[in-house]
Amino acid sequence: MKDALLRKLHSHDAKIGVVGLGYVGLPLLIEFAKAGFPVLGFDTDSQKNAKLKRGESYIRHIDPARIQTVFNPSAPDPRRADATSDFSRAAECDAILICVPTPLTEHRDPDLSFIEATGKALGPHIRKGQLIVLESTTYPGTTDEILAPILEQACGLKAGHDFFMAFSPEREDPNNAQFRTATIPKVVGGMNPDSLAVAQALYDQVITRTVPVSSCRAAEATKLVENIFRCVNIALVNELKIVFTEMGIDIWEVINAASTKPFGFMPFYPGPGLGGHCIPIDPFYLTWKARQYGVVTKFIELAGEINTSMPKYVVHRAMEALNQHGKALKGSRTLLVGLAYKKNVDDDRESPTYILWKELLRHGAQVDYFDPFCPVVRPSREHADLAGMRSQTWDGIAAARYDMAIVSTAHDQVDHNALAGMVDLVVDTRGACAPAPNVIKA
Ligand SMILES: NC(=O)c1ccc[n+]([C@@H]2O[C@H](COP(=O)([O-])OP(=O)(O)OC[C@H]3O[C@@H](n4cnc5c(N)ncnc54)[C@H](O)[C@@H]3O)[C@@H](O)[C@H]2O)c1
Repeated sequence: MKDALLRKLHSHDAKIGVVGLGYVGLPLLIEFAKAGFPVLGFDTDSQKNAKLKRGESYIRHIDPARIQTVFNPSAPDPRRADATSDFSRAAECDAILICVPTPLTEHRDPDLSFIEATGKALGPHIRKGQLIVLESTTYPGTTDEILAPILEQACGLKAGHDFFMAFSPEREDPNNAQFRTATIPKVVGGMNPDSLAVAQALYDQVITRTVPVSSCRAAEATKLVENIFRCVNIALVNELKIVFTEMGIDIWEVINAASTKPFGFMPFYPGPGLGGHCIPIDPFYLTWKARQYGVVTKFIELAGEINTSMPKYVVHRAMEALNQHGKALKGSRTLLVGLAYKKNVDDDRESPTYILWKELLRHGAQVDYFDPFCPVVRPSREHADLAGMRSQTWDGIAAARYDMAIVSTAHDQVDHNALAGMVDLVVDTRGACAPAPNVIKA
């Protein structure tokens, strides 16, 4: 069984299924297709499947040309590349990679409902000799304790024995010009040695370097460590920003100077809070799991507290700065510059700009936003009240005569220095603006 799958992987004849065709799953599917593997994407969003088959992209930084080379809309060959919501087609695949969302619930507990739903949908169609790899970020134990039993129950086969199971965390950094899916080393943990061997062989075909670890749990933990490291360090520089601001010291200048140390220092930059699908969320997967072991994750909790307090700090600084200009925040015309959670992407999930926005509204400000990457606020459970709001245009900013602009995300294509000439006051949370009399850092 193992040798048969290895042969198919080495010859690139194995059909690769990818479940969840989002920021992570779509580039992965493209990578396997580029290497000559037949690919089959699964997404519950049938509009995404249809778009892919038409050669269209729904993720800004993924060029439609890349999708067209895979799906070839002018002469489609569904045996080479297809996208579907029909999970019974899982039986066609030799390996299936699961890249579905892992958010938090309203009570900030892990929400594994997408993984569970995927397990239930795939389960009845799993067959002997297949490899199933979970890639979604999650707490240690999810692959062994949650996903494997769901699949086993549905298909009546034994994970690790009849079919192979592994966990391999995704390290995708959307729009990173230096690294892409194929060049980011990939950590792989298997449920048993055979599972590890086939999973490693799979990724070896498309990824420059795979890093085997002893178990699925070790691989799950690796991903959490990486993101907790970021979360805690960002909290640290956010705290230092508050201290240095009181001392009249520019934290960005200090970090840039410290970065010249060739060893033992790695720069992290402060901001208006934490955003994105990973850093604000993943650490709490470990916090939740640690509670089952009677362990408290104090560092993570503290980092979370500091990071979530940042939007309030920024609004407080903005209020003080307006006051200096003889104005109140209440009734002020305020522009938020940058809605995406980080620069140069169109991803607004968990963006701290939304928290700033709500905080400003709570204080009675009139709020608009400007973001060339996010022209309209998409409907979401968290920000239903803001859905449909449209970005201000660049030309409209000067004409609108805002009392204040708050730079919350600093896209490279935005001329932040010009802002100071277009609005009365700029509150810069990203260190994006050159010093000017009407620019304050916050
Ligand atoms: N976005 C990143 O930069 C990044 C980086 C590293 C890891 N991750 C992790 O990767 C996972 C996926 O994140 P993402 O950013 O790609 O999410 P995403 O929301 O961009 O994509 C998820 C896709 O899964 C689909 N989906 C939802 N439920 C499904 C189901 N039951 N069956 C099939 N498809 C389903 C959605 O329609 C969507 O297209 C998460 O665990 C995340 O933490 C994300």
